[in-house]
Amino acid sequence: MKIEQHGTLTLHDFEPVVDTFRQEVIAGLTRKQKYIPSKFFYDEQGSLLFKKICEQEEYYLTNCEIKILQRYGKEMAELIGSNCALIEFGSGSSDKIRLLLEHLDNPTAYIPIDIEKKILVESSKSLAQAYPELTVLPVCADYSHDFDLPDVVDSASRRVAFFPGSTIGNLFPTAVKEFLRKAARMCGLGGGMLASVDLKKDSSILERAYNDKAGAATAFNFNLLHRIEQEFDVAIPMDAFKHYAFYNEELGCIESHLVCERPVSFTLQDTNITFEDGEHLRIEYSFKYT
Ligand code: TRP
Repeated sequence: MKIEQHGTLTLHDFEPVVDTFRQEVIAGLTRKQKYIPSKFFYDEQGSLLFKKICEQEEYYLTNCEIKILQRYGKEMAELIGSNCALIEFGSGSSDKIRLLLEHLDNPTAYIPIDIEKKILVESSKSLAQAYPELTVLPVCADYSHDFDLPDVVDSASRRVAFFPGSTIGNLFPTAVKEFLRKAARMCGLGGGMLASVDLKKDSSILERAYNDKAGAATAFNFNLLHRIEQEFDVAIPMDAFKHYAFYNEELGCIESHLVCERPVSFTLQDTNITFEDGEHLRIEYSFKYT
């Protein structure tokens, strides 16, 4: 772990993507059912494209969650209590936390954890400016792996994890338990967690949200292929692929795929990757709950 100073801001950097991107992409693309972990969506460009998705009219999740936070933020803050240390998993632009911070009584620290360093630093700076009393301690890490929270949190503070955006739905239900265990360990005895999940609803509403007209979801998915091109210095014929998101009734989740519509092959380092006509690359689950 590296400690970097960005003005008055101290960043703890676990350098999460450096080694694993190439390895995990090759492993995922050589499987029988091709798959890439969705955390790799979030390079700088991907994080910006994700913001675009949240602004689409069809993508109801963001607005709905903001309304819930506006309506119940005060009540949530009361339940969290005074002097808490807030930890956010996948903090991105750190917008939603403001709706809680407005109501919290004397929070001792805010610890945003994100895999994308540039946006993490920028959003931490802007939050620190808006809340000069608040200690902002950004951590650049892949929270799906085990890591110890740097020893920055006053042990007297109650640690409360904030996990909005129905991000828990991007984990397969069996992985949710494991993640919650990790989060519980991180928050310690007496800690808390505030998480949100999207509810099951008519599949046409769900499918619209993940197939917006402006193509924000499509651009977000294709960014993953662009990132592979860059990281491996390889050309991938983008026009062979199509974005495809559908509701899987049986599993209760939206599945986002890229479908290859003609045979394609390219080489990543020394590994030959081939797609058959009609082959799917699965990139995201969005589980819906009851
Ligand atoms: N967690 C949100 C969801 O499942 C946001 C999200 C993650 C998302 N990856 C996505 C939205 C891909 C659209 C496409 O809805």
